[in-house]
Amino acid sequence: MLQLEKVMDKVKEWAREVGRIQMDCFREAGLSYGTKVSTSDLVTEVDERSEKFLMEAIGEAFPHHGILSEEYGDYHKESEYIWVLDPLDGTTNYVQGIPIFAVSIALQHRGETLLGVVYNPALEEMFEAVKGQGAYFRGKALKVSPREDLKECVLATGFPYDKDTHPQNNINYFSHLVPMIRGIRRMGAAAIDLAYVAAGILDGFWELNLKAWDVEAGNLMIKEAGGKIIDLPEREVSQVAGNPVICQKIYQELRKAAGD
Ligand code: IPD
Ligand code: CA
Ligand code: CA
Repeated sequence: MLQLEKVMDKVKEWAREVGRIQMDCFREAGLSYGTKVSTSDLVTEVDERSEKFLMEAIGEAFPHHGILSEEYGDYHKESEYIWVLDPLDGTTNYVQGIPIFAVSIALQHRGETLLGVVYNPALEEMFEAVKGQGAYFRGKALKVSPREDLKECVLATGFPYDKDTHPQNNINYFSHLVPMIRGIRRMGAAAIDLAYVAAGILDGFWELNLKAWDVEAGNLMIKEAGGKIIDLPEREVSQVAGNPVICQKIYQELRKAAGD
């Protein structure tokens, strides 16, 4: 069995190293980028260098473990242990020079997430969680926000990369919920949204059509911080997050907006 505390030390060291790769090129002129599924879906050489660093580090430390990573895809997917990686979450922010992006690393054992780290190198913010042992930021245990009235809540969301062509693009949900809440943020990095929900900085979150690498680390933090995740029925990896009461309220409003 792995000693998760030791593994966590390594993972945080890797996250800091990836953060150095990212900060070395942040706001540098001439950063080139390509597009993937749409003109809003970007990838840079920094996404690729960050991923290469993580894949090599994992391969060296845990040669029998598998990896699921955004740009590379699956590696050794039959392994009991799978690392789920978003080497750079918030690439659009990164390209624009907005300091809200992160490396997100989760380790799963037979599909259950054991450990998660979300690190924003621009703010030097490291959020971490180990299953059954809580979620932490700079040594302090995280707790989700206690707010239960939507009118007092600041929520975060995002829009899928096929927003211009797919009917389930979250715009109906956005217009339904915004008039009921205190405020909305579209931060541009789902892993940070989730870490902020775990920390009680945001009161809740919902988004459609995410990917496992966007949510695995952050979802563990939210659960370890006393929060809840509810899956939405439309599109894969679509979810609501927050304390159990607000999570349920957001879910119900989204079902109403969907006409259920
Ligand atoms: C994206 C960000 C964004 C979310 C998108 C994600 P990427 O990840 O997390 O906030 O709205 O759905 O794909 O592409 O920057 O790693
Ligand atoms: Ca992402
Ligand atoms: Ca990414």
